[in-house]
Amino acid sequence: MKKIIIALDGHAGCGKSTTAKAVAKSLNYVFIDTGAMYRAVTYYFLENEVDFADPTEVKKALNEISLKFVFNPEKGLGEIHLNNKNVEPFIRNMDITSRVSDVAAIKEVRVFCVREQQKMGEDKGIVMDGRDIGTVVFPTAELKVFMTADVKVRAKRRLKEMESKGVNTNLSDVIADIENRDHLDSTRKESPLKKADDAVVVDTSGLTIQEQVDSILKLAKKKL
Ligand code: CDP
Ligand code: CDP
Repeated sequence: MKKIIIALDGHAGCGKSTTAKAVAKSLNYVFIDTGAMYRAVTYYFLENEVDFADPTEVKKALNEISLKFVFNPEKGLGEIHLNNKNVEPFIRNMDITSRVSDVAAIKEVRVFCVREQQKMGEDKGIVMDGRDIGTVVFPTAELKVFMTADVKVRAKRRLKEMESKGVNTNLSDVIADIENRDHLDSTRKESPLKKADDAVVVDTSGLTIQEQVDSILKLAKKKL
């Protein structure tokens, strides 16, 4: 059967990864969470005290980094490994989350991550979620979706998720983080977050996860 690339871009916390995972599972495709790659690079930079403002230091650090997704059969999905270490448990905390958009705005970091992402999609059959997948990484992707949702709805969902993982935070901090990242991601010079001209907009504010997944699967099946 024909294989396609599904590019899922949009604002923070609107349900991209949850949807991408389920769509990939249903189609027997590979799910690639590109946010995890920018988070892993941020983790390396913070751990090694890399000066983000110094392009020479950034280039040197990127030369020392290898990123790959390793399939975890128990979870049924790939986990991000940085220099052969599984860094999934360390990349979703507030320290990383509050710095990742600064790191993701650096040109050299984008070139590095985009090159890796393009290699991962060579054989198609992928659902890739991020911010610039339909515009920069795979501008010829067969299906492009741009997801969004009301910021309060997104923040409440994220808060619930964080509380369930025992993270101590509150609604106003989560709203501030989401608004700040959306602003930085949409206004940066390099590959800003924006809807591709040919992307379908899906507003998830009033949708359940199942409705969201079904709407993307319906769009995908039309392309197959
Ligand atoms: O899950 P959430 O939407 O909160 O974030 P994420 O998808 O893990 O992405 C974290 C950050 O990485 C985003 O806020 C962007 O700054 C950056 N990112 C990017 O610039 N380009 C991508 N393709 C994916 C993520
Ligand atoms: O990847 P992105 O940052 O766009 O969002 P996500 O990590 O997939 O979803 C953020 C949170 O919202 C997760 O806890 C999802 O389970 C939840 N969610 C929800 O409750 N209802 C939806 N319709 C979509 C997402």
